[in-house]
Amino acid sequence: MKFRMLLSAAAVVGQLATFAAGDGRPPKRIFDESDAQRAERMAWWIHDRFGMFIHFGLYSVPARHEWVQSFEAIDTGTYERRYLPRFNPDLYDARKWAKTAKAAGMKYAVLTTKHHEGFCMWDTATTDYKITKTAFGRDVVREFADAFRAEGIKVGFYFSIMDWHHPDYTVDHPHPLFQKITGDKKAAVEKLNANRNMDRYRKYMFDQVRELLTGYGRIDILWYDYTPEGEFGKTWRDWDAVELMKMTRRLQPHCIVDSRLGLMESDDGWDFATPEQCKSADWPTVRGRRVPWETCQTFSGSWGYHRDQNTWKSLPQLIELLSETVSKGGNLILNVGPTARGEFDHRAMERLEGFAEWMHHNSRSIYGCTQTPEGFVAPNGTVLTYNPESNTLYVHHLCYPMGFLPLDFYEKVEYAQFLHDGSEIRIRKPKSEHGQSGELKPVGGLTLPMQKPNVTVPVIEMFLK
Ligand code: GLC
Repeated sequence: MKFRMLLSAAAVVGQLATFAAGDGRPPKRIFDESDAQRAERMAWWIHDRFGMFIHFGLYSVPARHEWVQSFEAIDTGTYERRYLPRFNPDLYDARKWAKTAKAAGMKYAVLTTKHHEGFCMWDTATTDYKITKTAFGRDVVREFADAFRAEGIKVGFYFSIMDWHHPDYTVDHPHPLFQKITGDKKAAVEKLNANRNMDRYRKYMFDQVRELLTGYGRIDILWYDYTPEGEFGKTWRDWDAVELMKMTRRLQPHCIVDSRLGLMESDDGWDFATPEQCKSADWPTVRGRRVPWETCQTFSGSWGYHRDQNTWKSLPQLIELLSETVSKGGNLILNVGPTARGEFDHRAMERLEGFAEWMHHNSRSIYGCTQTPEGFVAPNGTVLTYNPESNTLYVHHLCYPMGFLPLDFYEKVEYAQFLHDGSEIRIRKPKSEHGQSGELKPVGGLTLPMQKPNVTVPVIEMFLK
């Protein structure tokens, strides 16, 4: 018997609930792409499952969070004067980064071209607040795109729609100047915004995105970030998000776009949901339907390089995160914050090398995999992933059992083996115990070696009948 995914990507996207666009809401549909076309456009991304996020910008210099300017309420002049002259990532070697990502099994990479601080990592014509005006002088984005493409890694751009540097960008609640306000917020914000003009900012932003989408070859992913909600926040209208989506698709028709332009109410104003720093208990849904999703995660909390943060996740935790995510039909994009000299630090390297070793043996349980079909319950201490093409099921051991793994679906297993060495795992039929054991329920399952193999998270590959 061959099991198939219950919901194909096309069905997931196609069955999103519809509603009438009312006041303030974006249109229900923006494009006339069919569900099948959309599924085809996203097929590589859903297959590949694992990507690298890179947060690299001026904030790498203070090295205490990419939000340092807001957290410490630093006005842009002070920030610029203090850090711009110091930013010289002389050890930046995009080819090294690309090789590291590739070895770690990451199939796509997304680089911050501009973060909320507004500093541009490419040679833009729109501003002088850019990397090519520093002592370093090179176009970081171009070198990234060339090097990653050369390694066969798909290229994505993160682009902050918020901008704390541009004089026309209106002050909202994440803005550094907002943090300085004492007293009546409404009056203060009105005063701060009196001469700011979002029309001018929008033009600037569109020009920047146009440059990125026309000057750097094929861009596989655009990761717009983000629409701050609520009072003193913004909405999709502030970005003219529908037009921004249209321009994105016009310039790069195949490009896959995240969900942070404030267009969640549109069926096709986004391609994948972006739960941040969380382990989802279930496959996320939108209007009752499962959707393509990617969780973005840091090693340690901060996205930009943070020298003093000591909350780094361990390699077993990170592998568990990847296995768990895929077991719920999602992607994982794991972030590295390079140092101000342009390198991945030793803590990041240690984990990426750990991934390289694990993925070398176990990538078959990740690529092309998804949630199991109905009826397969993961035994305690494990998560299951499933490849619908090969009808193979993978047991990821987060907690290694003692010599035996009970499996209530053992009868559906044709053959089982460890993935890291291809060694056979024998299937054990339920057998009754001697009377002196009391009444033990006979269970079937897999006979395992008593000792945990020397693999961070051992995986058993099961070919199903
Ligand atoms: C958030 C943060 C940001 C980070 C991003 C990555 O929106 O503002 O610093 O870049 O998430 O997902």
